[in-house]
Amino acid sequence: MTAELTFTTTRSEAPMSAAEREAVLANPGFGSTFTDHMVTATWTKGEGWHTGEVRPFGPLQISPAASVLHYAQEVFEGMKAYRHEDGTVWTFRPDRNAARMARSCERLALPVLSEEDFIGGIKALVEVDQAWVPAYGSGEMSLYLRPFMFASEAFLGVRPANEVTFSVIASPAGAYFPGGLKPVNLWLSRDYARAGAGGTGAAKCGGNYASSLAGQLEGIEHGCDQVVFLDSSTQTYIEELGGMNLFFVTKDGRLRTPALTGSILEGVTRSSILELAPDLGLTPDESRIEIDEWTQGVASGEITEVFACGTAAVVTPVGELRWDGGSTASTAGEGGGEYTRRIRQALLDIQYGVAEDTRGWMTRL
Ligand code: COI
Repeated sequence: MTAELTFTTTRSEAPMSAAEREAVLANPGFGSTFTDHMVTATWTKGEGWHTGEVRPFGPLQISPAASVLHYAQEVFEGMKAYRHEDGTVWTFRPDRNAARMARSCERLALPVLSEEDFIGGIKALVEVDQAWVPAYGSGEMSLYLRPFMFASEAFLGVRPANEVTFSVIASPAGAYFPGGLKPVNLWLSRDYARAGAGGTGAAKCGGNYASSLAGQLEGIEHGCDQVVFLDSSTQTYIEELGGMNLFFVTKDGRLRTPALTGSILEGVTRSSILELAPDLGLTPDESRIEIDEWTQGVASGEITEVFACGTAAVVTPVGELRWDGGSTASTAGEGGGEYTRRIRQALLDIQYGVAEDTRGWMTRL
């Protein structure tokens, strides 16, 4: 596929002042403040992609009959822009996000956007909102990028929409979990599944996240931060959290993660960690993992560390797994086990340009 879009820029007449922006950047939290601009583009059946724009951040005007509001025909991505020490701004493996969005679009019967247009939209936004990328050395701070696509046609019949909107917004971000490296406790959901065989679990679509929320609430009621979902048909195999993949470090030096079965999201951070594992002396192992292997593995000392990963959360140590009537011990200590911290640092060093990017993972924006 080739590029179809050019992005014309209309600058905001009321951007945030430098002082206000610096105040936000001093403590951005996650996902609650947005930059001055956004990208939009439209696809119409028969015409393809057109009307690429960088324009002031603000409400999108859509009809109350827009299909997305009724049938959830929507996909999204999560990426980050990182400032390097020399002031340049980079992103991590955008080709992977573009390819995954294309796969998600196919699953949700949305039009595919080419990698060139996907990355072109991100570059166009970051160019205008450069000042929003946090300074180098400000901890784990970045500009979180959220490309998304939805059915904007006003039509209540159930069929793929004839008009679709692509957009990119950006939000300065600190750590996803406010405790930083403080381990998160996880709730094992037995009542709810996130996705099922043949469903949309491998696509990054809003519906998967909506379906995780009831389990998430149940977890919060039990003092947990996130929820672990099992395979929906047998309730035996570990799948993923609501929005993150899971990893296990074993005593015999393996780095295990659930194999992609069609109902698990193929995280870009997940794939990158699997590629980095041998550099850290670990053997990557993608296989089906029974929930009993987790509980018994922690008890016997076979599993020495557990962590969750994702673009937003990077690498987050997992403490206890809790369920109705029991819990595992925590393998995480105060700030995560040794491998969890080393893997996290190895990733961050590449992303912030501290370590040489030997795999060509970084793209300059
Ligand atoms: C990301 O990690 O970028 C996601 O989209 C997951 C969400 C929990 C923020």
